[in-house]
Amino acid sequence: MTKKRILTGDRPTGKLHLGHYVGSLKNRVKLQDSYDQFVMIADVQALTDNFEHPEEVRENIRELALDYLAVGIDPKKTTILVQSMIPEIAELTVFYLNLVTLDRVLRNPTVKDEIKQKGFGKNIPAGFAMYPVSQAADITAFNADLVPVGADQLPMIEQTREIVRKFNSLYGEVLVEPKALIGEVARLPGTDGKTKMGKSLGNCIFLSDSKEEVERKVMGMYTDPTRIHPTDPGHTEGNPVFIYHRTFNPNKEEVTVFEKRYREGKIGDIEIKKRLAEVLNDFLEPIRKRRKDYEIKPREVDQILIDGTQRARIVAKETMAKVRKTLKIDYF
Ligand code: TRP
Repeated sequence: MTKKRILTGDRPTGKLHLGHYVGSLKNRVKLQDSYDQFVMIADVQALTDNFEHPEEVRENIRELALDYLAVGIDPKKTTILVQSMIPEIAELTVFYLNLVTLDRVLRNPTVKDEIKQKGFGKNIPAGFAMYPVSQAADITAFNADLVPVGADQLPMIEQTREIVRKFNSLYGEVLVEPKALIGEVARLPGTDGKTKMGKSLGNCIFLSDSKEEVERKVMGMYTDPTRIHPTDPGHTEGNPVFIYHRTFNPNKEEVTVFEKRYREGKIGDIEIKKRLAEVLNDFLEPIRKRRKDYEIKPREVDQILIDGTQRARIVAKETMAKVRKTLKIDYF
């Protein structure tokens, strides 16, 4: 039986952190064994809100590839591709734009949120507003059956499905209608206790952080603000130090004991944090090592991207040929 195809991707806008690991990377490492997985470095999409700083997008292409390889995304199992090197995606986008209304894209909840966040006001760059259409092209170019995503990306998949249905009903069954694959996509709070770890929030532990950086960040973590002395009964629910322990500490028994003692006011934050720093460093050490191994072989990393993109482009070209035929523009 042929494996089902997965497509996911990230914008190359910065180093990946523990939140990315828990939310998507861990899942990708697992899924690559049972699916035909494509992972896209979405540089075209990154440029929709970074067009004034293309050098930043450029720098982050290799950083992102290194993070992928470091966590164990295996180029023998997963096709890693660079979006801008597949012009068929841009071509498909142009045709899909006929199948959506301006009103519909601006009603996309994710786009709406981002427009507010970025403070565009009335001056919304058209390319930015249309990125869900380009994302529909990302997904359909490769006939993806499944798109593993977090909740914030669900509106993108819904929009893609609408475009596919419209296309297929107008021109015939050509495009594959993808489904979102919502696994146990966890969300990790930031070191400051905010609900999300986010690069712009300055509350991240990066996969490439050094041992010392991890120690420093963990010792400065937000814990239970109601607890003043280590003998005060503490709260473990919603406490990021305990959330990280539950997520990364392989010794579940130890975590249970820590929680009990914390609630009883029998253990201090410092001890829990020191142990957390060790736990995180144990987890990150093999990732750092694999990253270093690839960092010294930049040519090999480049070749992985070139090969993956080439493989992916063959698929996108086939889709494009079908679409041209369906749209009756296969003239000669
Ligand atoms: N929009 C996604 C993000 O911001 C990145 C992305 C681009 C993507 N193209 C995709 C995700 C296709 C899934 C499928 O994280």
